[in-house]
Amino acid sequence: MIRVETSTAGSFLKEGSYGQALKKAEESFKQLQDKTGKGPEWLGWRDTVAQPDDALLEEIDSLAASVRQSADIFIVCGIGGSYLGSKAVIEALGPELLPGKPEILYAGHNMSGRYLEELLTYISRPKEDGTPKQVYLNVISKSGTTIETALAFRVLRKWIHTAYGDRATEHIICTTSAEGGALNKIIRANGYRKFVLPDNIGGRFSVLTPVGLLPIAVAGIDIRTLFYGAVAAYQLLEKSPEMVLSYAATRFALYGQGYRIDVFTSFEPHLKSFGGWMQQLMGESEGKNGKGLFPVLLGYSTDLHSVGQMVQDGHRNIIETFLVVNTAVQKLRIEAEADDHDGLNYLQGRSFHDINTKAFEGTREAHTRGGVPPFTVVFDELNAQSVGQAIYFFELATAVYVYCLGENPFDQPGVEDYKKEMYRLLGKPV
Ligand code: PA5
Repeated sequence: MIRVETSTAGSFLKEGSYGQALKKAEESFKQLQDKTGKGPEWLGWRDTVAQPDDALLEEIDSLAASVRQSADIFIVCGIGGSYLGSKAVIEALGPELLPGKPEILYAGHNMSGRYLEELLTYISRPKEDGTPKQVYLNVISKSGTTIETALAFRVLRKWIHTAYGDRATEHIICTTSAEGGALNKIIRANGYRKFVLPDNIGGRFSVLTPVGLLPIAVAGIDIRTLFYGAVAAYQLLEKSPEMVLSYAATRFALYGQGYRIDVFTSFEPHLKSFGGWMQQLMGESEGKNGKGLFPVLLGYSTDLHSVGQMVQDGHRNIIETFLVVNTAVQKLRIEAEADDHDGLNYLQGRSFHDINTKAFEGTREAHTRGGVPPFTVVFDELNAQSVGQAIYFFELATAVYVYCLGENPFDQPGVEDYKKEMYRLLGKPV
């Protein structure tokens, strides 16, 4: 099981505040278990791991295997919870699991014409042997109406139909709700293959459904091990929730003490997108009614040279959450040089993993001394099982923490406001 260390962050708490926060976290967890908290109709993400659907895993796996046989490029077309989870897992576990084929690309997560044109140019360019690239498209939208995704899908769908004619439907896979939404109309009209995201699971809690699992499986990652990692975490945390309660309670107590920013960071670039998934999961779940810790994604040591000064020495309202991998997967070591002009011979024989680990430990120590409470999330090994565990841990921790705030973790009413203004400016018919 991954480990989440909370004791150093806890040392920043005022006398008595942890006890109160822990009580609140215990009540929140009970509400989640009894389905008596806010948004009980959105708890399907717990049901999926409580009762694994092996037939669905098999269906996803066998489709992914056949796509992998012929695809050069697999485009994931979606935004927010519809793509961040799969991207997080694929980047955490690739590229050693991705022997270059298929290449996973993303669309529908922005409305940049430049981006989309470049994507079209890239997929249209033949392979080195002169043959055309085989492109598959997975459009993912629970509502089936999100404009970023819908616009990109319109353009990419046309490209696929032009490129593959009668066989175009074999290249398009859709993931959406059982009923409703424009996407369902398009699916019916064209006969595209469809996976269903159940109504009781929100986008940012959907990585362990076909939303995340199909792209992850196409990337060559073992989705059973990933999924059952989450199942194992569920089973453990239902009986012994101490780790999740301690994390949620400490975070909640720090929030009560005036901390307002949570920096998610790792010294492992492969985990940056996992931090991005956490950022969306927590940001969209807790930022309500003037409350919440603002989640910020940073990548160390890169960003120590951009905002490290601010973290060390700026306004003291920052918490830091480090994602750490204990086991090295690379063998690169520092070799001695006869002249030692760069003065690095003192590191001779040491691995990059070892050096990077010291950079993490030193940074955590310095930031802690500078007044930044640190949480440390430890993956003994970064593999499908531990990533599955971490996914469930953070889904649960987010729900418990947001219940502590007294909010509904599963809605996102604030996201509608920008859409209203954008549609008004675009002249969308009402
Ligand atoms: O977490 C969420 O619910 C959101 O981030 C959605 O995933 C995002 O807005 C995309 O919505 P949809 O899947 O309906 O296109």
